Amino acid sequence: MAFMEWTPEMSVGLAELDDDHKMLVRVINQLATNTGQAGALRQCIFALMRYAEFHFAREEHVMQACGFTALPEHKLEHEDFTAQIQALAKRFEEDPEAAAPEINEKLLDYLKNWLTHHILIVDMAYRPLVEDKPEARRAAQAFKAAELWRAN
Ligand SMILES: [Fe+2]
Repeated sequence: MAFMEWTPEMSVGLAELDDDHKMLVRVINQLATNTGQAGALRQCIFALMRYAEFHFAREEHVMQACGFTALPEHKLEHEDFTAQIQALAKRFEEDPEAAAPEINEKLLDYLKNWLTHHILIVDMAYRPLVEDKPEARRAAQAFKAAELWRAN
């Protein structure tokens, strides 16, 4: 059984954003099973950086399309997440083998808190605005298509 499961109570009302959040749960599960290996931790950090770049941009795009007024404050939380991950990544890369167990633990703690505070409380604030709204789905899908195009 996984360390953590995504449950319907975590839904923010839009499948695309829920899928992104499920990816975060997968990273948390990988960290929870990692026995302090530097290589596995590096993979998680890489996934998180991509996650932060892509998911936050998409989520902000959706919020903007739906006229979410608390967007500036929300963006600050996203920036803080990115800064925290970068800081941990920097400490890890200074001495990967020795630092891996401690950084793995710190990252896992940070992500668990992020999930309970940011996704379950802060993200939930936009749920009424995006749920069952065609413009929200269009914004999420357009962003995805643009991102895929950029990657190719
Ligand atoms: Fe968010």
